[in-house]
Amino acid sequence: MSESEGCCKCCCSFILTLGLTALFLWLSLRTDKPKCSIEYFYLPALNKSLNSQQNTSIYFILQLNNPNKDKGIRYENVNLTFSVLDNLNKTHQIGYKTIGGFYQGHNKKAKKKDFVETRGFNGTAVSGEALNNKTVVFRVDFATAVKYKILLWFTKRHKLMLGANVVVDSSGEKVDQKKGIRLKSCAPEPGGYYSAQVAFLVNLLIITFSNFRLRS
Ligand SMILES: *[C@@H]1O[C@H](CO)[C@@H](O)[C@H](O)[C@H]1NC(C)=O
Ligand SMILES: *[C@@H]1O[C@H](CO)[C@@H](O)[C@H](O)[C@H]1NC(C)=O
Ligand SMILES: *[C@@H]1O[C@H](CO)[C@@H](O)[C@H](O)[C@H]1NC(C)=O
Ligand SMILES: *[C@@H]1O[C@H](CO)[C@@H](O)[C@H](O)[C@H]1NC(C)=O
Repeated sequence: MSESEGCCKCCCSFILTLGLTALFLWLSLRTDKPKCSIEYFYLPALNKSLNSQQNTSIYFILQLNNPNKDKGIRYENVNLTFSVLDNLNKTHQIGYKTIGGFYQGHNKKAKKKDFVETRGFNGTAVSGEALNNKTVVFRVDFATAVKYKILLWFTKRHKLMLGANVVVDSSGEKVDQKKGIRLKSCAPEPGGYYSAQVAFLVNLLIITFSNFRLRS
């Protein structure tokens, strides 16, 4: 074996090791965003059988899932904004609730059961619609920031802005109460920070590697 051939082999295995390390690093640093949903949504003011517009609160259950198998999530305060849509689809803010920040272990589910007092919500006018078997559409906007815990360290802060429409019928509950409503991202976020960097690195390594093979 000539000296240059040996050097090349050594170089190739070095690059291969580096590539595998980068791949492993990418796999262990990759994070999945929490999955959030509205599991329950009820307004007594819209309950046709109750016939009472006194209680203008919204009772809800917010579910937060950490889909990461080995990373925890620290949530900052979760800001929830509740709005009602008029017949031109314009939103009118009627309530605001903050849920205290918390830490969630890997693969854990959290259910936050709470209620919000609404303001400026014309229960009678809107319930008139619901009582006539027309549905009323609400909007829930969710804003928080999270940090992921990888081993002992926390990543930088990532903002999380989600939202969904909730359709309520004349029972006062959201339609199809058994199914949760997934809160979807409303602000386009810059794609995976780590993944873009590592993908670039891996590409560079592959190009270098194939160049070596061509020459030898
Ligand atoms: C609506 O009110 C009736 C009468 O109080 C009650 O039995 C029913 O459970 C309420 N509906 C919901 C969805 O809670
Ligand atoms: C409001 O939105 C719904 C669903 O997106 C749509 O079907 C409806 O036509 C909209 N109404 C107006 C007035 O834009
Ligand atoms: C609303 O729907 C229920 C059953 O779906 C029906 O019995 C009732 O007559 C309807 N009411 C109006 C005002 O349309
Ligand atoms: C939530 O609301 C608080 C107080 O209004 C604010 O300081 C914080 O920045 C909000 N969080 C997000 C992620 O918007």
